[in-house]
Amino acid sequence: MDELVKQARTGFARAFGGVPDGYWAAPGRINVLGEHTDYNGGFVMPYAIPFYTVAAASRSQSPTWQVWSQATGETVTFGTGRVREQLPRSQAVDGWASYVAGVVWALKHMTGEPVGGARIALSSNVPVGAGLSSSAALSMSVLLALCDLYDLDVSDERKVLIAQFAENEYVGAPTGILDQTASLQSRPGSTLFMDCRSQVVEQLPFPLEETGLEMVVVDTRTPHRHSDGDYAERRGDCELAVEHLGVDSLRDVVRGQLLSLPDLLMKRRVRHVLSENRRTLAAAERLRAGERDLRFIGELMLESHVSLATDFEVTVPQLDHTVNAALRGGAWGARMTGGGFGGSVICLVNGDRRDAMCEEITRQASQRGYDEPKFYLAIPSEGAHRLEA
Ligand code: GLA
Repeated sequence: MDELVKQARTGFARAFGGVPDGYWAAPGRINVLGEHTDYNGGFVMPYAIPFYTVAAASRSQSPTWQVWSQATGETVTFGTGRVREQLPRSQAVDGWASYVAGVVWALKHMTGEPVGGARIALSSNVPVGAGLSSSAALSMSVLLALCDLYDLDVSDERKVLIAQFAENEYVGAPTGILDQTASLQSRPGSTLFMDCRSQVVEQLPFPLEETGLEMVVVDTRTPHRHSDGDYAERRGDCELAVEHLGVDSLRDVVRGQLLSLPDLLMKRRVRHVLSENRRTLAAAERLRAGERDLRFIGELMLESHVSLATDFEVTVPQLDHTVNAALRGGAWGARMTGGGFGGSVICLVNGDRRDAMCEEITRQASQRGYDEPKFYLAIPSEGAHRLEA
């Protein structure tokens, strides 16, 4: 974190001069269980990982937002004209800065409060395009900064909805609330469990170290994007099923109702959501009851992957092969994490087997001519917060 703060501080001084009023950090996440359930009013179990975006920010006198990014070295400036209602796409801010403009716009839209201008310098070590929510980390760090700079009293639940609204309506990616909640509300040593309908969040113990386990993230380096059609298409499949069944969300479907769906594809989509909710609830129940040996999570992760591969069809060969290689390398379980169509796999493994497993994964990737994967340790970490700097 010190390095990120230093980069943001130096960037701020170089881009705008002087020192910022404060620093805010927001992390990326993994999702242990509960995939493609958030926008179906279901259950998710994500936690923050120790990779952060830091925003060094100050108020500006004018209603203008200037944002410098360490990743690209550019400064993007926009005024109120580009963060208003009914803005034609061609006039909206695009690229990475669209998340910042989206947050300014959504904050004003949802709170009704005028949001003052700001100068913001961003630095981040959340891997981009890896399915680890670099965009939620970016949005949340900026949102926290703006709320604090302008004394806006916004609850956590509302912050999550504001960041989601920004991403859905301004950036144009139709995502749920999983990533934003994980980035904002995670606590070290725990996993979050959330009911996405009520937005009620529970912190459940996740004592990986007690039985010598580790959660390893494998970035397969297969790029993915949620604004692309596939994710939206899956959402569309779910919405059609909801309409057909006359329920509020797929969360409410009971088993017998599957039979009344008109075609096999729809049945499979719905079956994934139902079985994934069951797995996530089952895991939450056991963690809540105090189970300390987390190896059982591995089996649920694997079942989840199979369901995502066959019923929901959001995996790609790189993800499936990585899961296979992880199992062959000694993992207790492995699965894709996030939206899919590329991105990362998470593996639950004994710490003393970690290196052998990673070697096996790298070996098999190279045999298939895939890019060399990258590995990270997913230690349950602190959610978004203001830094003492
Ligand atoms: C992406 C979205 C989330 C969620 C997951 C799938 O990460 O941003 O809202 O839908 O995919 O579980």
